[in-house]
Amino acid sequence: MTILGIDIGGSGVKGAPVDTVRGELLEERFRVPTPQPADVDSVVEAVAEVAGKFHGIERVGITFPGVVVDGVTRSAANVDKSWVDAPAAKLFAERLGLPATVLNDADAAGAAEVAFGAGRDQSGLIMMVTLGTGIGTALFLDGVLIPNTELGHLEIDGRDAELLASDRVREADELSWEQWAPRVERYLRHVEMLLSPRLFIIGGGVSKKSEKFFPLLDIRTPIVAATLLNNAGIIGAAVSAEQAAAGPGPQDPGAIEVDAAAQAERG
Ligand code: BGC
Repeated sequence: MTILGIDIGGSGVKGAPVDTVRGELLEERFRVPTPQPADVDSVVEAVAEVAGKFHGIERVGITFPGVVVDGVTRSAANVDKSWVDAPAAKLFAERLGLPATVLNDADAAGAAEVAFGAGRDQSGLIMMVTLGTGIGTALFLDGVLIPNTELGHLEIDGRDAELLASDRVREADELSWEQWAPRVERYLRHVEMLLSPRLFIIGGGVSKKSEKFFPLLDIRTPIVAATLLNNAGIIGAAVSAEQAAAGPGPQDPGAIEVDAAAQAERG
């Protein structure tokens, strides 16, 4: 079965068919800029443009930068508010004519890292933290995802943590690594105090530059950079779509699949 993974990010919508056994892209990924405003109709079209580049696709898994429960998007911190309560899986399935699974972007990236990357063969509580446009989090207990943790919105000193320590804030405020790292440390220490994870995996584009800021972080929990980098979301989305096809199970992150053909039959 050929599965397409698509990652909806703050700046780009990227996708590629995925080898879900090896956790690798089967073809070079295709990217279009995220429409601005990133409202439902424009983003569905951008996803269709990406999907249209590939042939022989049987299912699609799509990440979304917000809470996703049973294929419905429930929050929209960094995208247009039209996504709140949008039936995302149904909209994508109908537009693409393919069964579609939708899940949170950090959950997808974390699932890929736990299966194939930095969290491989690790037991206990592992936390993925993506530092990007916002702060995304994913929690895994013995490899099983606890979906939709929104710990990037923990309040630190009266402020939403992602407004303190995301990579977008680093860029927008032109913070040096020495200025930004203490903010990341403050955030991670807070999470460490609350949850005592065994490992932090740091993802997002900035994880490519981990050597610039990891040495500046003084925390007890071991910390590693994501290894699948930009492709983690795409790979995790495809793996989730495959699991949804196999039916609900402990690894199913609560995203439903909508069978486009069945939808059409029902009218
Ligand atoms: C959203 C999360 C998302 C994260 C990264 C946050 O603002 O609330 O759902 O995972 O940004 O995109």
